[in-house]
Amino acid sequence: MKRIMIGMAIAMLGGEIACAGALPDNLSYDPSTKTGTIWPKPIKGSGELSYKNHRQDLSRWVSLSYAETRDANRPVTVKALPKGKGDPARGKKLAFNKKKGNCVACHRLPGKTQFGTGGPSLVGYHKLGRDDTWIYQQVFDARVHNPVTIMPPYGTNKYLSEQELLDLVAYLKTI
Ligand code: HEC
Repeated sequence: MKRIMIGMAIAMLGGEIACAGALPDNLSYDPSTKTGTIWPKPIKGSGELSYKNHRQDLSRWVSLSYAETRDANRPVTVKALPKGKGDPARGKKLAFNKKKGNCVACHRLPGKTQFGTGGPSLVGYHKLGRDDTWIYQQVFDARVHNPVTIMPPYGTNKYLSEQELLDLVAYLKTI
């Protein structure tokens, strides 16, 4: 079985991971794979799981696991919008891109028939009339609006750049 428990993974890397803080012991991690993170895939008709390399190293971010012991980055309040102009077309691509915003994992967005329901539908979002700074803050770090949100802090965790966040704000105002 490919699944290596984290204790072992840390031992194999000689403490390299330990510096980043102890990872939860229920994280699927295999340091011999490209991104370290592995992903279960059922083997059809067998009742067994195989593990594939995940496209990203998910251990970079703290998880919502009860076994998580690492501290999350503190919530960051945005004081003012960064300079620049958002592009709605680029924002749409980011929202649908699994390697970028992947907002459709939780939100319904226009034109998408398969979406997650962890967050509210954003179809018709412009009708809420939120101002740009509020929306920017929401995507930069939603914890400022709701301390127990499950929405990832894209800005604080440096997952999306300021320009990408502006693009998303511009897109959200068009839907
Ligand atoms: C893991 C699930 C998840 C992901 C991924 C996610 N969101 Fe959210 N989002 C939520 C939840 C849940 C809420 C409802 C408010 C809350 O619980 O904090 C929310 C609320 C929002 C709101 C606020 C709606 C309002 O009240 O004005 C906006 C805007 C938003 N999300 C945009 C985005 C964008 C853009 C992305 C992608 C970059 C994204 N979300 C990714 C879960 C998610």
